[in-house]
Formats: sequence, C-alpha cells, structure tokens
Amino acid sequence: MPNRKPSDLVILITGATSGLGKALAEAAGRAGANLALCGRSRDKLDALLRELDAMAIPGKVYAEAFDATEASQVGAFVERTLAALGRIDVLVNCAGANTARGPVAGLTVGDLEAMMALNCLSPLAFIQACHPPMASRGGGLVVNILSTVCRFSNEGLGAYTASKTAFEGLVGVYRKEARKAGIRVSAVYPGGIDTPFRAQARPEYLRPEVAAEAILSLILLDPSLAPDELVIRPLVETNYA
Ligand SMILES: NC(=O)c1ccc[n+]([C@@H]2O[C@H](COP(=O)([O-])OP(=O)(O)OC[C@H]3O[C@@H](n4cnc5c(N)ncnc54)[C@H](OP(=O)(O)O)[C@@H]3O)[C@@H](O)[C@H]2O)c1
Repeated sequence: MPNRKPSDLVILITGATSGLGKALAEAAGRAGANLALCGRSRDKLDALLRELDAMAIPGKVYAEAFDATEASQVGAFVERTLAALGRIDVLVNCAGANTARGPVAGLTVGDLEAMMALNCLSPLAFIQACHPPMASRGGGLVVNILSTVCRFSNEGLGAYTASKTAFEGLVGVYRKEARKAGIRVSAVYPGGIDTPFRAQARPEYLRPEVAAEAILSLILLDPSLAPDELVIRPLVETNYA
C-alpha cells in the first residue's frame, strides 16, 4: 500500500519517450498520477501520448518535445507545465545517453562536452527551474537517474562516467541545500536495464518496467522519509562490493 496517493502528485519525467522514462510514465499514469512528460523525438512523444490515451489513465498529462540540452527550452517547459498542471511535486531527471564510447586516451573535448551537456548540465537546468516553485510550496522530491558507473570504473565509458559523476557531485551538495526547503533529493544508481540505450538488446538485464516500478515505489514513500540513494541491478551483474 503506497504512502502517497499517486493522484495527489504532479510528476515531471524527462526522457519519457523511451526506455526507463517511458516505463515510468506508463506506470505512474496507470497508478493515477498527473504527468508532465518530455523527450527529444516528437514522433515518439506522440506515440506515447496515444498509448496513455488508450490506457485511459485517469490523471492529467502535459507534454512537449524539445532538446533538453537547451536550458532556455527547459525553463519554458517548466513554466508551461506549472501553468497547465498548477505545480510540480516530483521531478525525475531521467533523460540521458552514452554516445561517446572509447578509451580515455582518445577522448576529445567534443566527446566530453556532449556528455556533460546532456547528463549533467541539462538535469541541473531542470533542478534550477523546478527548485523555486517546489520551495515556495514547502517541498518536493527530485529523483536523479545516475548509474552504477558512479560506483565502478568501466573501460570505454570515460566521458559518460565523467558526466554522471559530475552530476552526482552536484546532486549530493544540492541534497543538503534543498533539505532546508523541504525538498528531498534522490540519487538512483541503475545497473544494466534492457532499453534502446544500447545498440543491442540485453534480455538478461532489468526490464525497464521492473526498474520503473522500483522508482515509482520510491516516489510514493511517505514525505517524512528521505530516500537519498537507491542502487538497482540485474542479478547477473557482479560489479558490486
Ligand atoms: N539502460 C541502462 O542500462 C542504464 C543504466 C544506468 C543508467 N541509465 C540511465 O537511465 C536513464 C534512461 O536511459 P534509458 O536506458 O531509458 O535510455 P533510452 O531508452 O535511450 O532513453 C533515453 C531518453 O533520453 C532522451 N534524450 C536523449 N537525449 C536527449 C536530448 N538531447 N533532449 C531531450 N531528451 C533526450 C531520449 O529522448 P528520445 O528517445 O526522444 O530521443 C529518451 O527519452 C539515462 O539517464 C541513462 O544514463 C541507463
């Protein structure tokens, strides 16, 4: 039995057009939450909206497609979400990618900049846009999808790891600062999830629906509980202490 009623919540999910974010949008929508959804692809967003419509989800939905690395677009989307849905109770920073694979010795500045823009600066822009309205309402929850690459070094993933660990640093400091405003800040560290994140299917990894249920459970915990960190892995993974 969840501690919070999903229908009382407005949940903003970035990266809602694919993989984990899409599965979370479906699960939260099915549970009755009101949703603000964004992704990069207009076509994928339209397909998701048709799917949510066919599911006859009870809550309200506001959605836009845009490039989340453009901070002005992030701010405008948050403003329009507030106008459409009245408030944001939960921000889920889920959009992300690993498009700069290769050994550290061969990394270019461009590789690092691209990963930093999407995996660090973009979720920071969402935090900065959502913080004032959450603080003025006395609280909120910010769920940040990081990765177990923050815990273990993986060859070939230098730029992605640098961007995720840079954002992890900001999340840790923000958690302390935001607590005073009643805002709880979660760092979620997934291991492998079988999504389009990778070129090849990995059926032995977590199904996105299963990972999404874990994150929805975290969102629905009683607001007196601060779920600072959550590590979730498929059983096949062995890179843990
Ligand atoms: N899959 C894994 O094994 C794994 C493990 C650890 C952590 N993670 C993290 O989990 C999160 C979700 O990944 P996933 O596995 O669900 O990957 P995914 O299926 O590829 O989904 C990524 C999402 O991010 C969006 N996105 C990418 N670039 C964008 C941009 N410039 N502007 C706006 N949206 C953008 C995509 O939008 P479009 O589809 O519309 O382009 C998509 O909705 C990421 O932060 C990832 O780093 C994944």
